Amino acid sequence: MHSFKWGVLGTGKIAKRFMQAAFYVPEAQVVAVGSREQRTAEQFGAQFGIPKRYGSYEALIGDPEVQIVYVATPHSLHAANALAAIAASKHVLCEKPFTLNAPQAEQVIQAARAKGVFIMEGMWTRCFPLMREVVRRIEAGELGEVRYVQADFGFHPEFNPASRLFAPELGGGALLDVGIYSVALAFLALGEPKQILAQATLGTTGVDELCSILFLYENGAQAVLSAALQVETPKQAHLCGTHARIYLPAPWWKPSEAYLIRRDGSQEHLLYPYEGDGLQFEIRHVHDCLRQGLTESPWMPLDETLRIMRTLDMLRAQWGVRYPSEL
Ligand SMILES: NC(=O)c1ccc[n+]([C@@H]2O[C@H](COP(=O)([O-])OP(=O)(O)OC[C@H]3O[C@@H](n4cnc5c(N)ncnc54)[C@H](OP(=O)(O)O)[C@@H]3O)[C@@H](O)[C@H]2O)c1
Repeated sequence: MHSFKWGVLGTGKIAKRFMQAAFYVPEAQVVAVGSREQRTAEQFGAQFGIPKRYGSYEALIGDPEVQIVYVATPHSLHAANALAAIAASKHVLCEKPFTLNAPQAEQVIQAARAKGVFIMEGMWTRCFPLMREVVRRIEAGELGEVRYVQADFGFHPEFNPASRLFAPELGGGALLDVGIYSVALAFLALGEPKQILAQATLGTTGVDELCSILFLYENGAQAVLSAALQVETPKQAHLCGTHARIYLPAPWWKPSEAYLIRRDGSQEHLLYPYEGDGLQFEIRHVHDCLRQGLTESPWMPLDETLRIMRTLDMLRAQWGVRYPSEL
């Protein structure tokens, strides 16, 4: 079996979940890990059986055996980490949000296209078998015209001004951490909005901790989205069309089931159970793209990533949330 050789850049929460998911993908071979500190790289490598453990990101990127770099650092570092990997001709899976803002995203996309390497934003929601089925149902016209989307993702972490969730210098705020899932879902079902209305409550560190967003579309469709770091929200999503609607129960961004409810009241239960956390579908998708010689994902195209980043920029501009590197 042909294997794909990954290097994991960063050793935080999502990097650990990535390693657990890679266990379900036999052709995924994580050959190296890179951390800011040798000690952390050693610990992570020992925990997950990774042979090469580097005490710097540069060393990981410089390893000729690594084909794909998984960027798992705070948002504020995504652009620099991805650019370094691209410069070394590596393929890249870059965690969401792709970068801190749209100008950075543009720069990374241009660099990847110029090098001819694969790069994808880690919007893992789009890779779940259930989400692919939802897309099929929409494309087959089963919902009729989608006119209304509702999605929320709010959670209540311990307040820590130094953590990446709250620290402006690490790209803190609810929108970029969890709101992006709902924004990407609205893009999937309805495309780019014509007008955006939104309000946010900023916390003591100056980042958005509670956000309510309304997207208005050319054809009159609407999306109502919310994100939070101050409360737990229902974490549900609804895609409502003129013939039927789809209800995605919590946690909708890593879905295993949905209900298709038709106008006549009949229901279909769509059930796609999976093992673990579900990141394995994204890993497999990256492999499938590479096998086909693609340089971007048809499920999370780069132009759409860029449009989403522009939308996030517009929202933050409405709220006056600017990160130190943008001042
Ligand atoms: N957690 C999730 O559920 C989740 C899900 C999907 C996507 N993501 C995305 O993945 C990225 C990382 O999230 P995470 O939750 O894994 O974050 P995290 O637990 O804070 O880990 C981030 C890692 O980045 C490295 N890093 C480099 N510079 C850092 C700095 N100045 N401060 C803190 N860490 C720094 C650290 O690894 P070293 O010390 O080894 O260098 C750290 O362990 C984010 O962009 C997030 O949106 C997270």
